[in-house]
Formats: sequence, C-alpha cells, structure tokens
Amino acid sequence: MTGLNFKLLRPEVRQDSAIGAEIHLPEGMSVLDLDRLTESDKHTLQQALFENQVVVIKNQKGIDPTVLPKLAGVFDPTTSNIHSAGEKAVSDPKNILSAYKAGRIPRAPQVGIIGSGRFRDYEGLDELEVIHLDHTMFHETPLDEDKLSEGYTRPYRWHMDTPFYERLPGQVTVLHSVRVPNLPDQKLHFPEGQHKGIAAGATAFFSGARAFSLLTPEEKEFALNTTVTYAPQAYEYIRHCKGSDDGLTIARWGREVPVDKLSPWTWDNVAEHPMVWRNPMNPDRPFLQVHGCCVYKLTTRNPETGESSVIDDVEEVRKIVYNMQKKIYAPENIYAHRWEEGDVVIFHNRGVMHSITGQLSRYRDDEDKKRILWQCTMTSKTPPQPFRENPGVNGSGFVRS
Ligand SMILES: [Fe+2]
Repeated sequence: MTGLNFKLLRPEVRQDSAIGAEIHLPEGMSVLDLDRLTESDKHTLQQALFENQVVVIKNQKGIDPTVLPKLAGVFDPTTSNIHSAGEKAVSDPKNILSAYKAGRIPRAPQVGIIGSGRFRDYEGLDELEVIHLDHTMFHETPLDEDKLSEGYTRPYRWHMDTPFYERLPGQVTVLHSVRVPNLPDQKLHFPEGQHKGIAAGATAFFSGARAFSLLTPEEKEFALNTTVTYAPQAYEYIRHCKGSDDGLTIARWGREVPVDKLSPWTWDNVAEHPMVWRNPMNPDRPFLQVHGCCVYKLTTRNPETGESSVIDDVEEVRKIVYNMQKKIYAPENIYAHRWEEGDVVIFHNRGVMHSITGQLSRYRDDEDKKRILWQCTMTSKTPPQPFRENPGVNGSGFVRS
C-alpha cells in the first residue's frame, strides 16, 4: 500500500516562487479521511506544506465541511478551533469582511463561504449572497475600461489571514473550491512591463522566505532586529484608504480613521510581531512576514549596543516596508492558484502573503460564472516566533505593556 505522498508542481508553474506541491492521498482513499491517515502520512503532509507553503489535494468534491477545521488542526496543535474573524459571520459595517458578505456554514462555523453570486438553499442557508470585491474597492487608481476589456486584473491586497487585533494568525488556511466561474484567463501587469496570465479568480501567493532572500544584507540585518506594531483596529484604521496598483501598500497618506475615532481598543490587544518569523517545522529559513497596509510602528534594536530606535511616522513606516517587499512583485515570484472544482488548498499563513485577484463581479448573475469557495482559518494560541533571538524583538504577539 502506498501512503500519502506529494510531488512538487511543475517547474514552469513554480518558476522562482518556491511555492506549490500536489498531495496524493494514500492508495484507496479518494476523499480525505483524517481518521485513516497514519502518523507518517500526517508527517508527510506537514512536510509538504511547510517546505512548499501551498499544497493542493485535487478532486475533493463532496468533502464534509467539518473536515476542514480538523485538517487545519494537523498543522497547529494549539489551534483555538475558532475562525480568525470571530465565532460568527461579520456584520459590522466597519469591518472589511462585511463587504464580502462572507457567510458561515451552519454545521461548521469555522468555515466561511466566499465567492460571487446569489444562491438559494445552500448548506442550510435559505439565501446566500457573496460578493467578489474588485479593483474599484481597493485601488487608488482603478483599472480603466480599456484595461478591463483586455482582461487585466490585479492583486487586491496582499495579506495574512489575521485581524491584527485580539487574535493571533493561524498557522494555515484551508480553502475548498466548490464552484469555479467559467471565464477566460485574465492577466497581471508588472512594473517592469511584464505580464502573467492567470485564471480568473486565481488566489495569488508569494513566499515570505523568497521575499527575505531578495533583501540586501543591510535590509536583512534591519529586518531581523525589528518588531512591527500594527495599527490599533488595523483594518478599521485603513478602511477608507486605497491601495497601490500592486496591492502591497496604501497609495497615499490621509484617509486613516483617527485612532480616537476607532471602535474601543486597548494597546494590549494590538498585534505586534517580529518582522522576520521562524517557522518551527522549517526552522532554518527566515520568513519576511509583514502586512504592508496595516503597519503602524517599527522598533529596531541593535543587538550589539542594545539600543532601540523607533519609527512611528506611519507614512514613513509604510515606505520602508514597501521598499523591502516590492522586490517580490515579479511574475516569476508569484504563484497564482488556478482553481478547479474540488480542489482543497492548504496554505501556510505564516509563510506566505496572499491576495484575491480577478474581475468576477460584473458577471455575478450569470449562472455559470458564479463562484463558491470555502475558507477555514483559525486563530492560534501560539504567537509567531522571531527568527533571531534578540531581546528587543517581541515574540509575544501583542504590544507589551
Ligand atoms: Fe485571505
């Protein structure tokens, strides 16, 4: 009997992204059954994920939604079993997630439903309407009609799945594609003039390890010694801000919600993470993991002198992070998952940044152009660890009082 095994995606698909493997379930298992996986199968699954950051299991149509949180648990023994966005679907209009109208599956509340279109009688929900947000919502300069008719799309906002407030990022996110829109490929445009053809609605990823490897020696040293403080109520703080074309940063200063006008918050719930993370299952590789839109303050401690310096001009903080991260935005560094119905994709939320792409909303009423994707991301109890042991780098997850 052959146990669970994996194969790297083809080199023309991986390019230089250092991302992507396909999982083959043990012989005789067509739909994932965690109870039938051996310890060695689970170990191989972890190895595939933590080495390749994104893994796909094909043809999982009919998988039970309650399997997704259990699958996420395989990669995080300290998972809380609560969705990172909270126990219930988000309806607060101040929260970005409410704009997607993301629902939850009643029999698996850790699993959100995202997509595009209106559905009746779906998974115990009488009516479900999900919205695929697009460039008009996110970008300072939306794509013009010419670009749209040529099939261009953009990464909307590179992020990790975490609110940066009160809850810690999960180790992994599990996605399952139930329905894929039947649309021609779209394409991304890059600053050097290159293009990359991607499937409509592809989820795009880049590796934090690859991003770190592109830094200069001085930037690496700075990053290893730096703690990032995120904005209080980070997503509410930037809710009126629009992003740069590449989705990595905020295009211009000035639309932030003043901190005294935010929903009630306290410093001890504000997220603070090392700029460079050590991932326990892959301990030798430094991951640059920073959310360039939600950053607020950088604290850098010189390991030799012990002196700390603080940059708390938010505009300046964004610029510094952007100059480090923008190097990754090239076609060969991006893995854009081409969804097929039945795919289960697991991604290492602490090892990649990801983004929605695709212009789907204009087709939302066409029956064959609707989309349904299940998403399970659960807050962890273990904070991300700093790659370098430096007493000045905070690995507690939140601002220390
Ligand atoms: Fe996400």
